[in-house]
Amino acid sequence: PSDFTLTGRGAKKVIVLGAGVAGLATAYELGKAGYDCTVLEALDRVGGRNWTIRGGDRITELDGSTQIARFSDGIYMNAGPARLAQWMVTMDYCRELGVDLEVFTNSNAQTYIFNASAGMTAPVTWRTAKADVYGYISELLATATDGGALDAKLTAQDKDRLLTFLRGFGAIGTKANGYAYTGSGDRRGYSTDPGAGEQPGVPLGPVPSLSDVLASGVGQRFSFELGYDQAMLMFQPVGGMDAIPKAFAEAIGRHKIWLRSKVTRITDLPNGVEIEYQDKNGKVRTVKGDFCVAAMPPHLLARTPHNLGPDVQAALATPTVTSSGKIGLEYRRRWWETDENIYGGITNTDLDLSVVWYPSYGYGKRRGLVIGYYNNGANQDAYAALPHAEREKRAIEQGMKIHGAKYRDELVTSVSVSWKRQPFIEGAWVGWPSRTGAYQLLNRPAGHVHFAGDWLSYLIAWQAGALESARKTVTDLHQRVLAH
Ligand code: PHE
Repeated sequence: PSDFTLTGRGAKKVIVLGAGVAGLATAYELGKAGYDCTVLEALDRVGGRNWTIRGGDRITELDGSTQIARFSDGIYMNAGPARLAQWMVTMDYCRELGVDLEVFTNSNAQTYIFNASAGMTAPVTWRTAKADVYGYISELLATATDGGALDAKLTAQDKDRLLTFLRGFGAIGTKANGYAYTGSGDRRGYSTDPGAGEQPGVPLGPVPSLSDVLASGVGQRFSFELGYDQAMLMFQPVGGMDAIPKAFAEAIGRHKIWLRSKVTRITDLPNGVEIEYQDKNGKVRTVKGDFCVAAMPPHLLARTPHNLGPDVQAALATPTVTSSGKIGLEYRRRWWETDENIYGGITNTDLDLSVVWYPSYGYGKRRGLVIGYYNNGANQDAYAALPHAEREKRAIEQGMKIHGAKYRDELVTSVSVSWKRQPFIEGAWVGWPSRTGAYQLLNRPAGHVHFAGDWLSYLIAWQAGALESARKTVTDLHQRVLAH
């Protein structure tokens, strides 16, 4: 992908519903092409799920329960999107909008895997887990290859080449010692690191048996970092993900984005659209345009009165809403760096916290913020059902299984966000039963109303999906305008 420009000018008035990433990109691109856009946003901020929480910010849930973030200066929490893959169009918008990027560490040999239900009694670092899994798999495959078990699949030359590969891949022994994996070499790490003079380092031991390594299930975690959307390098905006919506809002013109304006009705007219909304004083008003781009979540559009017909209504109600959420834990001391040599990255577990994220910013500073859970489905629902103080307590109890008492003792303050409980959002992302029918219908305009959002893309739960959808929608709309 690259920077995007509509060809030719349009002068129509477009009402954009929602100042999330899709709505902002829509207004930005249409604005560049000459359109007059007004963006209606129910919240008192832009960005939607792209939400960075800092000290002083207020987090209010649907039931009215409220947290005030007490984070220190310079500490922030990306409650929603937090990582960008290099191939995603989000990178191009950061370039175009002047948003500075830095590496987000998505995988790190120094972080842990902890599968408690598989009987692991202590977390193991990714480096050690990989040494053992690669080592034993290589030993097995080398033995089978050399013993002739794979002769139907391999030529003599294939076998030589495979054995050469496996020797290096698994750091295993020679033919003479049975291609054995013995944990030798430095891959597993050390209990005392190599140093000066007479200190060669004390290798980390003992090496578990093949059977124990298989039973631990650690190898099942390795596929994560190979995913097209999760492979390193990944990036984040410097200072918080909300640099993206803020830059969009500046480029669009803040006066064109009406905050605290809640859409209450969408009416398609013979020659345009009329949008009814409640303004920041609670007064019901209407605004007219030639077109509308509805860039709100589908489940909220499904609850908004409209005259777009029963098929559109049924389509809007089709996707299922996923729950997800995070807790941000501020610590008085960056113990993950000083005590555990972890500078960013993610610990993966089968605990209900799912993961622990260490910050990819602020290395070596005094305080820091760890994501203490980022979970979805039933695990998230269990946390979401609790008041914040109980979420914190549960997250700390779970996290202590990995990091011990300092995980509780060094805590300063915390904030949790459960996306299903956030007003005017009410979900983390959606899933479609299929990409035919409802999905296809909403990827086309209904009268003068076009739709946009990550939910209309194959990149659901990524800002890139919202941006790609906005580009498609403005292209469709513009072509329609130019054709008249
Ligand atoms: N984009 C989100 C994330 O990276 C959600 C997601 C997770 C989407 C995994 C796809 C795969 O956490």
